[in-house]
Amino acid sequence: MVALKKVRIIVVVAIVALMALIAAGCSGSETKTSTDTKSTDTKTSTSEAKAAAFETIKAGELQVGSDIAFPPFENMEGSDPVGFDVDLMKEIGERLNLSVVFTNNKFDGLIPSLNSKKFDAVVSAMTITDDRKKEVLFSDPYIDSNQSLASKANSDIKDVANLKGKIVGVQTGTTGQDWTKKHVVSAKEIKSYDTALDAFTALQAGQIDAVINDLPVSAYIVKDKPELKIMQEIKTDESYGIAMKLGDTKLAEAINKTLADMKKDGSYDKVYEKWFGKKK
Ligand code: ARG
Repeated sequence: MVALKKVRIIVVVAIVALMALIAAGCSGSETKTSTDTKSTDTKTSTSEAKAAAFETIKAGELQVGSDIAFPPFENMEGSDPVGFDVDLMKEIGERLNLSVVFTNNKFDGLIPSLNSKKFDAVVSAMTITDDRKKEVLFSDPYIDSNQSLASKANSDIKDVANLKGKIVGVQTGTTGQDWTKKHVVSAKEIKSYDTALDAFTALQAGQIDAVINDLPVSAYIVKDKPELKIMQEIKTDESYGIAMKLGDTKLAEAINKTLADMKKDGSYDKVYEKWFGKKK
């Protein structure tokens, strides 16, 4: 009786072990198949598993939308996007084993394009706002910013109170445009441009009197143009975030984790210093 029971236990154990083996074998070959079909490039199976925690539009790639005319965050150098956002995203992509593909897109069309699944993420010096949070999921903030007033260096416009009757340039769809509409009510006109660079070209050409735009960008643009000047910093306490689709929480978690890692291990500071110099 006892012996029979023992045999039965051994048989059960053997069957369970066999099933486990078969299961392991199956899932193993499954992973391999998907790896094989997926890539011509050199991904390891560990990183495949990491990447499998979230899905992207195209496997192994992160499609990023950006208005690439906002130096030093994103700008075209020949046919290559360069800038702080670009370096940050490339590093994040590398750590998640995704190659980052940038697509230039008008700023005010970025969120609609993201939500129509043209992009996995939008990285465009985009301020985290309550209104945008209704449409997209933001990563943790990655850098702080403010607005600014720029004008001709010899202009009598010293601060926003001097904008009465003047023409002010802004970029369409930005927080700078919102701020100006709300606070510069006495202006003659608020002119909207597709890019911040276009607004500055108009300022240089004397078509407008001032530009209200993100401070780090305007400061960067006027740096090598002695005829232009930042007249006033406008404190708006903004923070930029990486935008993803609402509900894309797995991707957001992976990106937030990577951002935190980069802040801890000093690689965030490296990218920061490359574009903004030493932190004070
Ligand atoms: N931070 C501002 C905003 O979110 C302006 C961003 C413009 N970015 C760009 N790449 N053009 O509205």
